Amino acid sequence: MALNTSVAGVALGGYVCNASGPRDATLEELEVIANSGSSAIVMKSCTREPREGNEEPRYSRLAFGAIQSMGLPNLGFKAYVGFASQLAGRGKPVVASVAGLSLEDFVLMVGAFQDSAVDLIEVNLSCPNLAGKPPVAYDFSRTAEVLDAVCGLGSKPVGLKLPPYYDFVHHDAACGLIASHRVGFVTCINSIGNALAINPETEAPVIRPKGGFGGLCGDYIKPVALANVRAFFERLAGKVSIFGVGGVKSGSDAFEFLLAGADAVQVATAFENEGPACFGRIASELELILQRKGYSSVDGVKGRLKRV
Ligand code: SIN
Repeated sequence: MALNTSVAGVALGGYVCNASGPRDATLEELEVIANSGSSAIVMKSCTREPREGNEEPRYSRLAFGAIQSMGLPNLGFKAYVGFASQLAGRGKPVVASVAGLSLEDFVLMVGAFQDSAVDLIEVNLSCPNLAGKPPVAYDFSRTAEVLDAVCGLGSKPVGLKLPPYYDFVHHDAACGLIASHRVGFVTCINSIGNALAINPETEAPVIRPKGGFGGLCGDYIKPVALANVRAFFERLAGKVSIFGVGGVKSGSDAFEFLLAGADAVQVATAFENEGPACFGRIASELELILQRKGYSSVDGVKGRLKRV
């Protein structure tokens, strides 16, 4: 059974890979991903300078997922440019993820990764965890500025990590910008920003940064992630690849993203909870579902959501 796929013309040997976020900030963690069933090595979103991230506690498991406000703890982009050389040649694409704090940062980092060993460059316009810096992708004129500045910097495919949108006018606006720039892929979705989880025993939020407001992850967000994948697929299919991310923890979840139109899925919360075995497990479960339904490849199903 072929689970192989491609994103922006870059071949992936499987449909399931890690997401930028958990357990991918150090070379040791990235080596674990390289040696796992993940079909790509996606690195932590990086900034121009190293960051410690937000104060602890900044991650808390919830009944159906997690809430986090990590605040982009990372080693600074130069470290990831170096890691890419060490991770290349493992038979799976290496994906950089850049989270600029200014337009100049985005230009500097995308330019540096264009000259590096990475295969894909994800431009993260959707981190909800930086106080005073709302996600760029909720501001379409700032998004246009970033796209104008980064899309022509080299030949490696550039993609956008997007926040959830909740109305078709916003999907239309985002897709209009994407279609008018050289964007190779979108990653839908980042966590749902500014959720609040409260512990009734302590009578306090479960995380400290931003007064307890943080990104909601896991099962809670899967329907929103599926809706965004579908909305982008309906507008961009065939022109722009889609990574689906948000609540994938089983082969059945991955199959739903495939029906919605995702070219591949990324796993974050299940990887945080279960470790690297999750990638092979989810891929095997997906394979069994495809076999049972008589499909011989992911391409025969991609985007083919039926009508009720
Ligand atoms: C974080 O480090 O705060 C999470 C990354 C993101 O939301 O993009």
